[in-house]
Amino acid sequence: MTAMTAPDPAAPEPEPPTDPGHASPPAGDRQGQRIDVITLFPGICQAPLSESILGRARRDGLLDLHVHDLREFGLGRHRQVDDEPYGGGPGMVLRPEPVFAALDHVRGLCPDSNPEVLFMTPQGRRFDQAMARELAPRPHLILICAAYEGLDHRVVEVLVDREISIGDYVLTNGALAAAVLIDAVVRLRPGVLGDDLSAVEESFSDGLLEAPHYTRPPEFHGHAVPPVLLSGDHGRIAAWRREQSLERTRQNRPDLLP
Ligand code: ADE
Repeated sequence: MTAMTAPDPAAPEPEPPTDPGHASPPAGDRQGQRIDVITLFPGICQAPLSESILGRARRDGLLDLHVHDLREFGLGRHRQVDDEPYGGGPGMVLRPEPVFAALDHVRGLCPDSNPEVLFMTPQGRRFDQAMARELAPRPHLILICAAYEGLDHRVVEVLVDREISIGDYVLTNGALAAAVLIDAVVRLRPGVLGDDLSAVEESFSDGLLEAPHYTRPPEFHGHAVPPVLLSGDHGRIAAWRREQSLERTRQNRPDLLP
């Protein structure tokens, strides 16, 4: 609950807090992560990764993103990529040949790399912050995105290291899911966030939701910033944040508590 106590209006507006003493690693230590995405809808994946922090990470060489159009590996004059499911049922299934060919192509582009191959699917293991942390140090990831009813399972059996779902709902295709995963993974790499500490002190990093944040003005529409945040007492602020973290987790995500 937001505190309602107004601070002294005569006092100067307090500065939003800063956290001293946590320097980012020097630029020379920062290696780019290569990520190849294979999808029928390259634009859906490219767009969210072209702006803001991820756009800057790409320009700075921290993310080396290559999005490949699966259609280019399609069969015959019509570049066919899908077919009817064996055994019947609705929709179309992606054939294995174009995906095998696309993956061969990507592997040929970087023969010395040992990439981990991920398949974005609602049938996969659920993506979370722990998995993002696990994938962030990998030098090279390849993401395969399906569309329509899915992908011929032989691709999964032969080529895929892990199947990943971004949540218990079904999207029209995996390109958006790939963009979500890439954003969550790449922001954890050194140098991508302006302040590397913000990736450490955030929701899920200690198994709890984050405490609420406030900035200027100290009072807005009769709602005051909790006075403890203006106190300059770092011990009390840390204790307040911990308590708020626990309370928010209890209310919104009790499943995260032991
Ligand atoms: N493709 C469609 N829905 C998906 C989901 N929830 N996660 C990953 N890939 C998907």
